Amino acid sequence: MPSFRPQKAPRVVVFGNEKGGTGKSTLAMHLAVALLNRGLSVGTIDLDARQGTLTRYVANRRLFASRTAVPMPEHVAIVPSPAQDIEAELVKAFEQVASCQVVIVDTPGHDSALAQAGHAYADVLVTPINDSLIDLDVIATVDPHKQTIQRPSHYAERVWKAKQARAKKDGASLDWVVVRNRLGQLDARNKKLMARLVAELSKRIGFRIADGIHERVIYRELFLDGLTAEDLSTLADRREAAMSHVAARQEIRNLVTALGLLDAIEAPLVSR
Ligand SMILES: Nc1ncnc2c1ncn2[C@@H]1O[C@H](COP(=O)(O)OP(=O)(O)OP(=O)(O)O)[C@@H](O)[C@H]1O
Ligand SMILES: [Mg+2]
Repeated sequence: MPSFRPQKAPRVVVFGNEKGGTGKSTLAMHLAVALLNRGLSVGTIDLDARQGTLTRYVANRRLFASRTAVPMPEHVAIVPSPAQDIEAELVKAFEQVASCQVVIVDTPGHDSALAQAGHAYADVLVTPINDSLIDLDVIATVDPHKQTIQRPSHYAERVWKAKQARAKKDGASLDWVVVRNRLGQLDARNKKLMARLVAELSKRIGFRIADGIHERVIYRELFLDGLTAEDLSTLADRREAAMSHVAARQEIRNLVTALGLLDAIEAPLVSR
């Protein structure tokens, strides 16, 4: 009999990057579903609820779930407003998902007070970056001649502040993981340069690098049903599992492993 260790507090995974459109909401949902399908209880908090990508993804899933059973996260959306007491709103949101084993927080692709405060709750901060020097620029300035890292830039400084805020809050440390997203099959030269620069930067400012996620239609085509590639194998109607679906599932599983969530929680794996 596997033992279910009651959790004192959920493990909090924040998706953050001050660059827009890097895959934060997409990967947040895919990670949530991968964990749900392993039998974990998952909370999702949308701190970018004005745009509301994650909130709509979850709403679409709820609609799907009304017809066909799929596991659902506990979802909370916080719409930013000038008068709000951010800390009070965050405390309330985290209380709503306090019984979950993992809480996944999506943040906007720009600096905001709400996003900043959200970062300070992270046990694990996941920063997806598109495989482009433009995306790297928000984390570090690259010397155009030598093609080496010159200095960390504003998002790296933001994460440094979040690490300090997290330590001050409860003495815990923040594990920062960068994942290259939307990797192409063809741009070998750019890929090599990005791999070298990200590795160099990782040593310099202290983040871990997860295996990259490739550009795949499957990561976007299931949005309206609120599903992910991870669901397809469990659904009764069992759509044809193309090679790219299998590969996408494996990529997300690798991400779950890289984030160390299952080890941290000691959840029993549901055999599939
Ligand atoms: N690995 C991938 N393969 C294919 N499409 C992807 C992948 N990752 C993300 N996308 C697509 O890229 C776009 C941006 O993704 P997403 O909205 O998740 O980014 P974001 O970082 O949350 O953006 P924002 O900063 O605006 O909140 C979307 O159209 C999404 O479907
Ligand atoms: Mg988003």
